[in-house]
Amino acid sequence: MKEKEIRKKDNILPAKGRLGVLLPGLAGAVSTTFIAGVEAVRRGMALPIGSLTQMGTIRLGKRTEGRVPKIKEFIPLASLEDLVFGGWDIFPDNLYDACLKAQVLEKNLVEALKDFLASIKPYPAVFRQEFVHNLQGEYVKKETNYLDLIEALKADIEDFKKKNDVDRCVMVWCGSTEAYLPLKDVHKSLANFEEGLKKNDPDIAPSMLYAYAAITSGITFVNGAPNLTVDIPALIELAEKHKVPIAGKDFKTGQTLLKTIIAPGIKARMLGLKGWFSTNILGNRDGLVLDDAASFKTKEISKKSVLDYILQPEVYPELYKDFYHKVRINYYPPRGDNKEAWDNIDIFGWLGYEMQIKVNFLCRDSILAAPVVLDLALFIDFAQRVGLYGIQEWLSFYFKSPMVKEGLYPEHDLFIQLMKLKNTLRVLMKEDEITHTGLDYYIE
Ligand SMILES: NC(=O)c1ccc[n+]([C@@H]2O[C@H](COP(=O)([O-])OP(=O)(O)OC[C@H]3O[C@@H](n4cnc5c(N)ncnc54)[C@H](O)[C@@H]3O)[C@@H](O)[C@H]2O)c1
Repeated sequence: MKEKEIRKKDNILPAKGRLGVLLPGLAGAVSTTFIAGVEAVRRGMALPIGSLTQMGTIRLGKRTEGRVPKIKEFIPLASLEDLVFGGWDIFPDNLYDACLKAQVLEKNLVEALKDFLASIKPYPAVFRQEFVHNLQGEYVKKETNYLDLIEALKADIEDFKKKNDVDRCVMVWCGSTEAYLPLKDVHKSLANFEEGLKKNDPDIAPSMLYAYAAITSGITFVNGAPNLTVDIPALIELAEKHKVPIAGKDFKTGQTLLKTIIAPGIKARMLGLKGWFSTNILGNRDGLVLDDAASFKTKEISKKSVLDYILQPEVYPELYKDFYHKVRINYYPPRGDNKEAWDNIDIFGWLGYEMQIKVNFLCRDSILAAPVVLDLALFIDFAQRVGLYGIQEWLSFYFKSPMVKEGLYPEHDLFIQLMKLKNTLRVLMKEDEITHTGLDYYIE
């Protein structure tokens, strides 16, 4: 759909009824922290801090108009009360047990939510060991061929919808990072992909089967991990064919979030960069999965690309040509989900004089990711009700490797991403975009 048509559209479907949030990786740290968190907020036990949809505002019109509604009051979003949760995992734990294992949330909070959490159980997963070397999948579907597995996933979706009285769903991949997979012929067109499904092509990853099942069921798909998944021409084509919005990939939460906050500042002041060394220690299940070289490679590619796009060495060779960028992740069990990240940034200023910036971020991985899952679920459901489909680039704000149409480069600067997101909302709601020139206030 062209922007002109979007601007004319005025039949946004209302957020009526319940919204099902389906999560592959349901028993993982991010999913459980997200779901328990939403329930805690619903019960008035905590605030949804970190969530733009819940806490954020949007300025409309001129600064003198004083129109600054909350985003959730400006656009018709599903309310937290209307969310229901389901999904799949290779572990059969209900969410109460899974929350305790993840050790992200304090025990007294988990105990207070016990009945609610214990009532949510995963469906058995579609899993292949070759894609996640460091986890042993015990709770997996018995079907062996891909088409049957897709049918089994679709049957789960129908079962979930019936049991929960849901008619709209979104799917957000919160499963483990899959082993690195380069783009192959089977991914390059829908025809190739569907041929590959019939032949159980080994280059079709489990996450792609979930995405295929979702899109062909009319369900939006968001990819929170760095695996290709929907970021392949075949599934982009499928999403366009079924008029389903998709977005990805890899939630931008901790160290990379800070990188995309700091790097635009360095560039804005035309300071140079010699090198950026990033390392961290992390001891959760995600850390264990990323301890395997094949899964780390997928993550490394996602984490490394941001600086090149923000700094544009080809445009500013004197400042950014050949800067050294290293990214390390170290599995260190004692810290669990509480990641500690270090960045050493070697910069140079006036006349080439060198300086250093040191960042030591003691963060909590899943605490940072949970509001991102919430916002993405709500925004992508909104996108579908507006009539958008295919890649939702305006959601780049949330990703380390934003998906973009072929031929475009992704925008990584967090502030440009936020402006893109808010201006998209203004356009969809027929408000003027905000350009921040402000000359009108001064020139008669
Ligand atoms: N800040 C963050 O936490 C953050 C940021 C960016 C990306 N991510 C990504 O989000 C994902 C989830 O992170 P996490 O910390 O919750 O990891 P986790 O290991 O705690 O959870 C992942 C879950 O996925 C399950 N799983 C693996 N393969 C599956 C399959 N084929 N089907 C269904 N379930 C499957 C695992 O059993 C596990 O319970 C990871 O891929 C991670 O890289 C997390």
